[in-house]
Amino acid sequence: MLKRIVYGVSGAVIIGLGLFSFYAWNPSIDPITPPVKSDYSPQVIEQGKVLAAAGYCSTCHTPTGGTPYAGNYEMHTEFGTIYSSNITPDVETGIGSWSEEAFNRAMRSGVSRDGHHLLPAFPFEHFNKMTDEDIRAIYAYIMTSVPAVNQVKKENGIPFPLNIRWLQAGWKLLFADSDAFKVNENKSEQWNRGAYLAEGIAHCGACHTPRNALGGEKYDQMYQGADIDGWIAPSLTATSTSPIPWRAQDFYEYLTTGNSPYHGSAAGPMAPVMHKGLSALPEQDVRAISLYFADHSGANESDDPAANANLQAAIKEQHTQADLRIDEGARLYATACQACHYSSEELVKGRPLLTLGSATHLEQPTNLVNVILDGVRSDQGISGVVMPGFRDALSDQDISAIAAYLRQSAGQEAWPELQQKVTEIRNQPRFEQ
Ligand code: HEC
Ligand code: HEC
Ligand code: HEC
Repeated sequence: MLKRIVYGVSGAVIIGLGLFSFYAWNPSIDPITPPVKSDYSPQVIEQGKVLAAAGYCSTCHTPTGGTPYAGNYEMHTEFGTIYSSNITPDVETGIGSWSEEAFNRAMRSGVSRDGHHLLPAFPFEHFNKMTDEDIRAIYAYIMTSVPAVNQVKKENGIPFPLNIRWLQAGWKLLFADSDAFKVNENKSEQWNRGAYLAEGIAHCGACHTPRNALGGEKYDQMYQGADIDGWIAPSLTATSTSPIPWRAQDFYEYLTTGNSPYHGSAAGPMAPVMHKGLSALPEQDVRAISLYFADHSGANESDDPAANANLQAAIKEQHTQADLRIDEGARLYATACQACHYSSEELVKGRPLLTLGSATHLEQPTNLVNVILDGVRSDQGISGVVMPGFRDALSDQDISAIAAYLRQSAGQEAWPELQQKVTEIRNQPRFEQ
């Protein structure tokens, strides 16, 4: 891995040095006096507020307990620590002196007002898919409605030579999709609306698309699942390991209620996406996103999951499990989990059937272990519904036994080196948002 990064970096250095030193340069755009509310119609500002929510700007630009949009949210990447910028309209430390032109350039090409390149931790290659009108609305909202806060951005902890800003020009040329959003004439208007939102402002692929050694999204494996912030963002395509295929209505239910009874809950980094982001969008927009992803997953909309053999098997399994397999994992499961995770003959929402859930079927135990350690807070998954965490109550050995037992009950191959992975997951930085 390290070798690949080093080779890749050297490649980027050569490209950056040799061919693109001119290309890499961007002019500074003159500062302006910030616009005021009366410069825009209330509808435009409201539209900007909705879009800013759908783009999770505040999630990435606000640390836990920090001031909204004032930056210094810490992002851990394999290249080092990155801090987000202050994007409040503060003239000195924020974007108060930015013209709409400067903001538009940053959103489209990841270039700051003074001309320096921004790191792709800021998902500009998705925001680039937006129309000028939508970018203008976000600008209008932030500049006129977010309170200005004076706070200096912390220095990124990115080692040399990756910290050389203009090398980003090489990265962008190699990996960033700089094309505008293209309407697919073969698909419906609703599908195209879903694609526009998912590929653009909601940037689902920033987490769900795997990345290459230099952090570029692999566009030929769009939405096929990736690691993000100590979690797995599962595949949203036909490569999903879920026993029940995702139909449009399953996506819609998951994205609006935080849980699909056939798949699981939106915890970890998916929780703010759903609760703070998609919840701001009008219903028809979330329907459009769901339709778009159902097309990727290839599920048959008229299939009834209740009649699916995998579902029947999982329900049957839970009635036989306790007597059949008296092992440590089964015993711990019966005492620590089963009281809440039961289902009768039918699935009950809010009582996830763990042998069916995505967390048990993914290639790695990451999400299952994260949930066992830290539970599901009331502002994650289904609103107001809590699952307690077992970080202090269960040892790594206990958690590993439960996970192994669930995996076996789900009819999946054992996860290798499970207990060691539980220890690693316990010790990784916790996702806080
Ligand atoms: C996934 C996290 C993430 C999301 C989501 C995100 N940003 Fe950022 N943003 C960053 C990071 C990190 C930086 C700083 C990058 C750097 O240091 O090069 C940044 C920088 C910026 C900058 C440049 C500021 C400057 O002074 O150069 C602007 C403007 C910006 N973001 C606007 C937005 C807006 C508007 C949204 C929502 C539509 C948004 N960001 C969503 C992470 C994010
Ligand atoms: C910040 C990263 C991030 C972004 C952005 C993101 N997701 Fe997720 N997503 C995740 C993670 C992590 C999980 C796993 C959550 C869990 O299991 O509790 C997940 C889970 C899901 C699941 C459940 C999959 C399964 O098999 O259980 C769906 C569906 C989903 N995301 C859809 C979307 C859509 C649609 C978007 C864009 C509107 C999106 N996600 C944007 C990180 C993200
Ligand atoms: C007090 C009740 C309760 C107990 C005990 C409990 N859970 Fe949960 N669990 C829940 C609820 C409720 C949810 C759904 C939470 C939501 O969506 O808000 C859930 C969700 C989950 C999920 C799905 C999360 C996702 O990301 O899809 C997993 C996995 C899980 N629990 C595993 C376990 C395991 C393993 C145990 C035993 C160690 C356990 N739970 C014990 C109530 C409980």
